[in-house]
Amino acid sequence: MKIIAIDRKGVEHTVEGTIGWTVMEALRDAGLPVAAECGGACACATCHVYVDEEWFGKLSPPSPEELDMLDMAVAVESNSRLSCQIRCDPALEGIKVTIAPE
Ligand code: FES
Repeated sequence: MKIIAIDRKGVEHTVEGTIGWTVMEALRDAGLPVAAECGGACACATCHVYVDEEWFGKLSPPSPEELDMLDMAVAVESNSRLSCQIRCDPALEGIKVTIAPE
């Protein structure tokens, strides 16, 4: 599936996500600057992204663990999510995310 990712310089990238894998893995494998220090265990918040409003409401709600990590992240916005907690799904084809500041 296609993921539109805006990097920290505002440059748009089209990235291929594998169904069932996470958006974080797609961004990282495409060489985008997502540190993902905990490897997707919902324990670092270095995979923080802003999800475009059009898709934000289509995502499964965040788990309590994700909300706890977002509490500790910087520059959190109402559309913040951890990209390691977003699973690639055909319903999210074309999802647009912006990589949050470090
Ligand atoms: S990769 Fe660590 S919280 Fe997502």
